[in-house]
Amino acid sequence: MKIIAANWKLNKSPNQARAFLKAFKERYKNSSSQQVLFFPPAVSLEATANALAGTSFGFGFQNTCFENKGAFTGENSAEMGRELGAQYALVGHSERRSLFEETSQQINKKLLNLQALGVTPIHCIGETLEDRDQGRTKETLRRQLESEHQGISKTKLLVLAYEPVWAIGTGRVASLEQIAEAHFFIQSLCPESLILYGGSVKPENSKDILNVKFVGGLLIGGASLEVDSLLQICESDSSR
Ligand code: PGA
Repeated sequence: MKIIAANWKLNKSPNQARAFLKAFKERYKNSSSQQVLFFPPAVSLEATANALAGTSFGFGFQNTCFENKGAFTGENSAEMGRELGAQYALVGHSERRSLFEETSQQINKKLLNLQALGVTPIHCIGETLEDRDQGRTKETLRRQLESEHQGISKTKLLVLAYEPVWAIGTGRVASLEQIAEAHFFIQSLCPESLILYGGSVKPENSKDILNVKFVGGLLIGGASLEVDSLLQICESDSSR
């Protein structure tokens, strides 16, 4: 089973989400060995939930608060999202870490909270270009996993996403060898988790990436914004 996850980032209003999902549902050919997930902006979550009602597609938050309710102005609650049927949440995306100064301690609290709620986190990790150039890729991945997984169940309700920071939104995709090496390493530390790859995935490279050992699916930003390209990526999955 591969996961194809569309991270819309700060794109698609409720109306745009509805229009996209209507077109996507009409053209997607169902497969029991592929799970497609959508991560709209929180303001479009309810439109997404309604558009996906009765389908096999899943959806969730791009970010959630580590608490479920209270005095946390501007935050979103995974517990409240569950009421709409949200079963997933991205955690620790590199844009959250770099632009919003999210720390490993906060990420750990978010993971703990989501697992306690029965919501599956997609925990994003990855090295910067500086880490890679200085030969610190594995050290960085290990450090993120060790500090962010304290108290976390590794056997259930945990999906990982390897996203090299230098490959996100840059058009610069990691080589198949770099992906294979990182996924092998992460899988050795988290043997039971599915590990998605993310970073400049496009219809032109998705088939080869999906065929790399220990790649359990894809987390897609830019190329998930058009129905055609997301469908092409879904169809490039030769295991479906
Ligand atoms: P990208 O984004 O596909 O646009 O590189 C991936 C991500 O940020 O999850």
